[in-house]
Amino acid sequence: MQKRASWGSQMGFILAAIGSAIGLGNIWRFSYMTYKNGGGAFLIPYLVALLIVGFPLLILEYGLGHKKHGASSLAFAKISRKIEWLGWWMPTFAYFGIMLFYTVIIGWCVNFMIYSINLSWGADPEAFFIKNFLQLSSSSTQIGSLVLPIVFSLAFVWLVCWFICFREVNHGIEKACIIFMPLLFVLTMVLIGWGFTLPGALEGIKWYLKPDFSKIMNWEVWMAAFGQIFFTLTLSFGVMIAYASYLPKKTDIVRNAYLTGIINCFYSFIMGFAVFSVLGYMANQAGVPVSEVVKSGVALAFIVFPKAISQLPAFNNIFGILFFGTLVIAGLSSAISLVEAFSRALTDKFDWNRKTTVHVLCVLGFLGSLLFATQGGLYFIDIVDHFINYYGLVLAGALECLLIGWVLKAHVLRNHINAVSGSHLNKLWDYLIKFVVPAILIITLLINLVKEISAPYEGYSIVAILILGVLWLVGTALLALIFTIPKWEKAKLEYNHFAEEDKLLV
Ligand code: ALA
Repeated sequence: MQKRASWGSQMGFILAAIGSAIGLGNIWRFSYMTYKNGGGAFLIPYLVALLIVGFPLLILEYGLGHKKHGASSLAFAKISRKIEWLGWWMPTFAYFGIMLFYTVIIGWCVNFMIYSINLSWGADPEAFFIKNFLQLSSSSTQIGSLVLPIVFSLAFVWLVCWFICFREVNHGIEKACIIFMPLLFVLTMVLIGWGFTLPGALEGIKWYLKPDFSKIMNWEVWMAAFGQIFFTLTLSFGVMIAYASYLPKKTDIVRNAYLTGIINCFYSFIMGFAVFSVLGYMANQAGVPVSEVVKSGVALAFIVFPKAISQLPAFNNIFGILFFGTLVIAGLSSAISLVEAFSRALTDKFDWNRKTTVHVLCVLGFLGSLLFATQGGLYFIDIVDHFINYYGLVLAGALECLLIGWVLKAHVLRNHINAVSGSHLNKLWDYLIKFVVPAILIITLLINLVKEISAPYEGYSIVAILILGVLWLVGTALLALIFTIPKWEKAKLEYNHFAEEDKLLV
């Protein structure tokens, strides 16, 4: 058995976990969700989702990784070989689904950081983004050719991920996050401060915080909030299980989960001020209401912001570099966590050399993500993102709760968590994990499925949806099965890092 590394400090773990949570999703996705779903009113379902699903599941993942002292593959196999598959499916679809397109979006941000230097998007950022930059093909069934500037930035993003990840966590990810996270907060503060000074900023912020309560009755708003919490807390990716497996014996799991959740969501909230100040400014310049400025999430970052950056009274290029630089750093600190979750799942089982595993995974990842760097890339991202988020993450989350709640037994994990944490969980957590969270997730899934069957997502061609959406999910599920089949070295499954402690608990 290979010796496992551990975090250099609790702070290192917290920064890495927050780094994984804070990502592209917090900046453009959260702001856009809030914009679309009733402004301040969205914050209510968002908060409810954090309390009912976010915290309980985060505690579950930290607790599981810590108790079983392994990435998701090992953690589930230690409970029972029969449920090991789920421990593979989560990091597999996170890697071959989310990571492949996530790196492409970070790549776009790198390109736009460079474009900010001379405001290359000119007077029509929309045409620039769609025609000049993406060279978007006319339909989702046309792959077209590779778009070279995107391929270069993508190679850069994978190179950075590889450089950070091939070392053990305490030398790679931990060190990177110790630099990335403070830098991210400084950049964010500068953006917020800057945003406040713009004419019209107050209008945008008022719009951000003013609740449109009519939206609260709409179930779609609630589903969007639950989906956002999953994505933003990196839940069901296998990441938090892997990260928690490097924690020392004594650690406050409950406090760590609260800290991660609160800092992550607070970050989204304050970043909203920067985004909405700029939207207010845009509305002010165009003489239109804030509600008419943005059309879609992707457009928010790559069309509206460039437009706003060009209109700024001074220092436009610095603002652009800061904004896209913030996205790049937030994205990278999440991307490396996905590499970690998958590579750790592999090395925990197969005893492969960590460095070689990461080298191979990054090369495969880069090659796979080229699909999204083609002229049809934007469509493919949209479809894969939709299916992985709405079905993969939600289904995996529901299964995770049910298997931990009923097979391992929620109270067994709770006892472990309480034994090592300063703060205590009560039985309410068991009920949430066994009944409430899976019920919410399964209802969400079914509602989406019914909607999907009645009309294909965004009117895309059925061929594209079947290949990219359904087959992607089924393909990763089969791949997970292939990883599950080989037997484990017996000693690995029996090895209990916290044996002494567990003896006291059961
Ligand atoms: N949690 C990461 C994000 O929000 C994946 O982007």
